[in-house]
Amino acid sequence: MPLKLITTADGSHSLLNEELNETYHSVHGALQESVHVFIAHGLVHRLSTPHETPLAIFEVGFGTGLNALLTLDFAEQHSQAISYTSIEAFPVTADVWQTLNYAATPEQKVRFEMLHHAPWETAQNLTPHFALTKLQTTLQNVSLPPASFDVIYFDAFAPNKQPELWTFDMLQKAARLLKPDGVFVTYCAKGQLKRDLKALNLTTETLPGPPGKKEMVRATKPVQV
Ligand SMILES: C[S@@+](CC[C@H](N)C(=O)[O-])C[C@H]1O[C@@H](n2cnc3c(N)ncnc32)[C@H](O)[C@@H]1O
Repeated sequence: MPLKLITTADGSHSLLNEELNETYHSVHGALQESVHVFIAHGLVHRLSTPHETPLAIFEVGFGTGLNALLTLDFAEQHSQAISYTSIEAFPVTADVWQTLNYAATPEQKVRFEMLHHAPWETAQNLTPHFALTKLQTTLQNVSLPPASFDVIYFDAFAPNKQPELWTFDMLQKAARLLKPDGVFVTYCAKGQLKRDLKALNLTTETLPGPPGKKEMVRATKPVQV
């Protein structure tokens, strides 16, 4: 799969999948997008109300490992135990991820390498507060117990590029994986997505997007569904 390194508007790298003509992050700022959508409106938001520990996160699309790195950093900075499960259909190869400029410090470089070197299909305690399970599979094929996750980072390629990941059935699959009070966050704010999440009885919010993007979506599973 042809992947081209690009620099986004905040100076952080991303990858362009030339076959789909789709980037792994917002061209307005990869780092800003991940921090805003997944960390601030997903992880930090979920931690602001009563929750279990470790907090269980499920990511659709491990990709470059940027969301995972930011989450690991957060876990260590805040001594918050996190169990992170991420699926990826087409892992980025070492010659590509090693060129990414996400590690600002030597400590982050070590963490980023640990995330990528971690074996697939098995849980690993990478740091005192962060356990990682990477699964090389697709959203269509993955099988996980229902009501397992406190937060879902839904970071698939956009609906116009990969519509099969945004169908009602796929969203229902994601919703079933959420625990009560669990939150689903994504950078996408399409009307059909919001209608489907509402139809799944999730409390659906349209929030301001990261720089360069008007809106994003967060959907919360009510205690009684
Ligand atoms: C928008 S990128 C993810 C960005 C990633 N979260 C990051 O921080 O770099 C979408 C990812 O989904 C992966 N993907 C493609 N098809 C998939 C599928 N059917 N199931 C799960 N992941 C898939 C792609 O290979 C790509 O890595």
